Amino acid sequence: MYESTRLWREVDDYFVGTLVAEDEALVQTRTASHAAGLPPHEVAPNQGALLALLARAAGARCVLEVGTLAGYSTIWLARAVGPDGRVTTLELDPEYAALARANLERAGVADRVEIVVGPAVDSLAALVDAGAEPFDLVFLDADKPNNPGYLDAALQLTRPGSLIVADNVVRDGAVVDADSTDERVRGVRRFLRMLAEHPHLEATALQTVGTKGWDGFALALVH
Ligand code: SAH
Ligand code: DHB
Ligand code: MG
Repeated sequence: MYESTRLWREVDDYFVGTLVAEDEALVQTRTASHAAGLPPHEVAPNQGALLALLARAAGARCVLEVGTLAGYSTIWLARAVGPDGRVTTLELDPEYAALARANLERAGVADRVEIVVGPAVDSLAALVDAGAEPFDLVFLDADKPNNPGYLDAALQLTRPGSLIVADNVVRDGAVVDADSTDERVRGVRRFLRMLAEHPHLEATALQTVGTKGWDGFALALVH
């Protein structure tokens, strides 16, 4: 097991070194986040590049992110939508949001990002109530027990053709335990069942290994 996890990391390092242009602002976002004691839960550089690539393939101009942390994935998404695009990102913790704001400024994208501080369930309800324009891409990456509620809100905040992406659907394989009492596992499993059963979603999920260990993404297209 040790040997393979070491190799997962080496392959990620190789891919990132070969393919992923992480500039100083992205590197500093990671280092500032860890230095401030925030959990190391940001997506890996090649995963950030995947989010950006998906956003660009979808022609996304308007992105919604649930779970900002220090803004690492936010920067990738903000760059992908371009100078005329908008990212709305939801974060519970005001201190995390303040650090994210500084990181977004350093990355030169603060003007196209709105950080909404508070429980995402409430922030999403406010967006729905305000009749927000549909988002082209939604990235769900906050507390996993609430994923079903986040999906309900995302469905009200998207249009046919929008993409919904969720992080951390595998968690070292924990997702296969149908009897799990872990609310995160239960949230992810219920979320996946909702994806499967919704008549206007076409979805799949992929496992990933690498610097983030063994985890995965779910992807759904609204139609
Ligand atoms: N997307 C980030 C990582 C997010 S980590 C990146 O890849 O760089 C998950 C974040 O969700 C944490 O910052 C945590 O504070 C936030 N979070 C947890 N519960 C939340 C809630 N109920 N509402 C909003 N944000 C929440
Ligand atoms: C955790 C959350 C994340 O979003 C992530 O990418 C990795 C770990 C966590 O809560 O442990
Ligand atoms: Mg995550």
